[in-house]
Amino acid sequence: MKDVTRRAFLRLSALGAMAAGSFGWLKSSTAPEKTDHHQTAPTPSPGGEADGTGLVHGAMPGTMPGVNGEVDHQANGFNPTDILTDFDAGTQAVLPNGQTLHEYQIAAIDKEVEVTPGVMYPAWAYNGRIPGPTLRVREGDRVRIHFSNGSPHPHTMHFHGIHPGNMDGVFELVQTGESFTYEFDAEPYGVHLYHCHASPLAKHIAKGLYGAFIIDPVDGWPTVDHEFVMVMHGFDTNFDDENEVYTVNGIPFHYMIHPIRIKTGETVRIFLVNILEFDPINSFHLHANFFNYYPTGTSRTPSEFTDMVTQMQGQRGILEFAYKYPGRYMFHAHKTEFADLGWTGLFEVEDA
Ligand code: CU
Ligand code: CU
Repeated sequence: MKDVTRRAFLRLSALGAMAAGSFGWLKSSTAPEKTDHHQTAPTPSPGGEADGTGLVHGAMPGTMPGVNGEVDHQANGFNPTDILTDFDAGTQAVLPNGQTLHEYQIAAIDKEVEVTPGVMYPAWAYNGRIPGPTLRVREGDRVRIHFSNGSPHPHTMHFHGIHPGNMDGVFELVQTGESFTYEFDAEPYGVHLYHCHASPLAKHIAKGLYGAFIIDPVDGWPTVDHEFVMVMHGFDTNFDDENEVYTVNGIPFHYMIHPIRIKTGETVRIFLVNILEFDPINSFHLHANFFNYYPTGTSRTPSEFTDMVTQMQGQRGILEFAYKYPGRYMFHAHKTEFADLGWTGLFEVEDA
C-alpha cells in the first residue's frame, strides 16, 4: 500500500470498515520515512489490515464516528481529558522588583505514542506529552524556562508573544544533551503557543513539539464555570507529509468516548490553538449553539458571534458559550474529512 495516498486511504478505509470494522491499514503501512532514518513506520501486525484495531468510521451509513477500543493512556503518559484543564503555572516566586516569576523545566524527548489503538507513532514531545504542557501566566509576570534536549535531534522552544530576539528560540539551536534558558516578560495577554523552530520546521512541529501558552490579563478574564484548552493537530503516521489522523489534545476521537461533561447554563471558555501541519486550514464547529469568538484573545470585544471558526496554522482564539438545553452535542472540524479521521468530540450537557 505504499503508494496509496491519504485520500485513497479514506476510500479504502470506508470499504475496509464496512468489511472488517477496521482502520488496520494504519498498522500495515510500509511507506518509508522520507527524511529521517531514526523514525520507524508502524510495525505490520500479523492480522494485517483486518485486525480489528484502530479507528472505525462510517462502518454503517448514518452512524457516528468512533474508535474500536482505547489507547493505553498510562503508557502514553498523558490523557486528553486531563490536558483540557491541566494549566501549568510552573514554580512561582516573587522577584526583588516585585514581579512574579514562573519557572519551568521542559525537556524535548523522543517517545513512542499510541495515537489510535495499536498504532504507535514515533513522536518528539515536550515533557513526553502531546500537546506539551499548557503554560499559563499573568501579563507582566517573568517567565523562565529551563529547556533541555534529551532527543537525538537539535530542538528549540519558540514562543509567540513579545520578547527580545535572543529569547525567540530560533537561532540558538539546542543540541542533544544541551540546555538553554528562555526568559522574558509575559505580554501581551491572550492565547498564544510555543513550538520547536528547528529545521525542517514542518517536521519538527508535525512530530509533536508544540503547546499552548496562555497569558491572563492583569485583572483576569471574566469568571466562567469551565476553562478548557484545545490544541488542534494531526499525525502523519506513514511519513508521507499528509496527516492520516486529526484530533485535539493528542488522541483522535478521545472526547467521543469520554465526552466533556457540563451543565446547562454553565459558562465555558475554550482556549483554541491550531498547530496542524501539512493542511493549510483547520476549523472548529460547535453543534446546536453559538459562541463569542475573540481572535488571539487580545481583546475583550468579540469579533463574531458564530458556531464555526477557521484557523490557519499558528492562529488561535478564545471561544465563550453556554448550553441552553441538555443533550449530547458534537464539536468537530467543519473540514469534514478531518472530522471523519478523528477530529470529533462531544459535550454531554446535563440539566443544572
Ligand atoms: Cu525540533
Ligand atoms: Cu509559531
